[in-house]
Amino acid sequence: MDRVLFKGARLIDPASRTDETADVLVVDGLVQDVGKKLTSSDAEIIDCDGAVIAPGLVDPHVHLREPGREDEETVASGSAAAACGGFTAICAMPNTDPVCDNATVAEKIASRGRAAGLVEVLPAGAITKGLLGEELASIGEMTVSSARVRLFTDDGRGVQDSRLLRRAMEYIKGFDAVCAEHCEEETLSHAGQMNEGEFSSMLGLKGIPSEAEEIALARDLALAHLTGVKFHALHVSTAGAVELIRAAKARGARVTAEVTPHHLVLTDAELVGYDTNYKVNPPLRSSADVEALRVGLADGTIDAIATDHAPHSSEEKETEFEQAPPGMLGLETSLAVVLTEIVGAGVITLPEMVERMSTGPSRVLGLGGHGGPVTPGEPANLVVFDPQGQWTVDPSRFASLSANSPWIGRKLKGAVLHTVFQGRLTLRDGELMQGALV
Ligand code: DOR
Repeated sequence: MDRVLFKGARLIDPASRTDETADVLVVDGLVQDVGKKLTSSDAEIIDCDGAVIAPGLVDPHVHLREPGREDEETVASGSAAAACGGFTAICAMPNTDPVCDNATVAEKIASRGRAAGLVEVLPAGAITKGLLGEELASIGEMTVSSARVRLFTDDGRGVQDSRLLRRAMEYIKGFDAVCAEHCEEETLSHAGQMNEGEFSSMLGLKGIPSEAEEIALARDLALAHLTGVKFHALHVSTAGAVELIRAAKARGARVTAEVTPHHLVLTDAELVGYDTNYKVNPPLRSSADVEALRVGLADGTIDAIATDHAPHSSEEKETEFEQAPPGMLGLETSLAVVLTEIVGAGVITLPEMVERMSTGPSRVLGLGGHGGPVTPGEPANLVVFDPQGQWTVDPSRFASLSANSPWIGRKLKGAVLHTVFQGRLTLRDGELMQGALV
């Protein structure tokens, strides 16, 4: 099926400043026409009345567990989860086993992504070998490899050694790539299980103070200023961090930032049941932090919503809180969570949501062909969703191989109907296309 005409949707395309009812004709992988009352004698027609059509979502922060923990997620299953969530591009963090700290691993992940053919899989490279924080990884080699790595991070950990991070930033800048940091000062967060505050005292769990994130971020912003690198702050979680980024942007720094749906919606109060599905790093914070993150998202201090999709097996999660690894799924629920809780609460508008989940993250990654514009001649990477569609999160329906979601059982409003990757439907009427199943 090479020709598809999407009829009657509300086209929201921040890149071309479009928000109007329009038909979109896709031919041979490209958008061929956009306009009112388009006709085509040989195209398949998909009625999108009442739905939104937008550039496909882009997630700058996911964990696929291949290589190493293919029981938890593979590049193919993560790609399927992404297509189900309305994504057309995802950036895969390097904390695999072996670590993605060289061109061979990066090329393997990229080629598995191409073989799955459901979304563009961009491998992120490690900053340090083995994520050990001691020696620089093969940054140049990964950049010029066929995987074309454009974002470097030790995510899961922050680089603790400032001198090494400075050198990494200088090097990354030389390749015009992005240095992305998981901001955590580890002597302060040491052995912490959750946000430090009244709930950690009540629950008897060791707390992680906001300052562990803010000290690391302040240092990183200073080093980014010193080196001139493009710097991206991963999963920002505190009010103080939002303020640091706002001030850096006001100074004209080349800095971008992301926030997760869970940090925008959930607080540390959720941990009262010791449910390990709420254990995540950085931890869920206070309601004041949530409020500040929402303000930062609305005023553009925060450029992107990222899922930090982090699959873990039920054996690992169903254990004592202290033993359980941090992380939660996100790809298949993020659009609906953001529509229900953030757009629904009036924090941002629908067009602003598309900007923060597609156009903004594409810009962060320097990614062409995604995030719009939805105009003739551009690659057809698109999502169609029903903003009113109600559903209940059911893990048996996840394409992900894992089920560690805090949203299980929740009723959400906002359903992905169709996802189009390079002109092909990967998801149709909410179902993965035949042959796309892994
Ligand atoms: O909660 C998290 N899980 N935070 C991270 O930084 C790493 C991630 C993972 O890999 O599971």
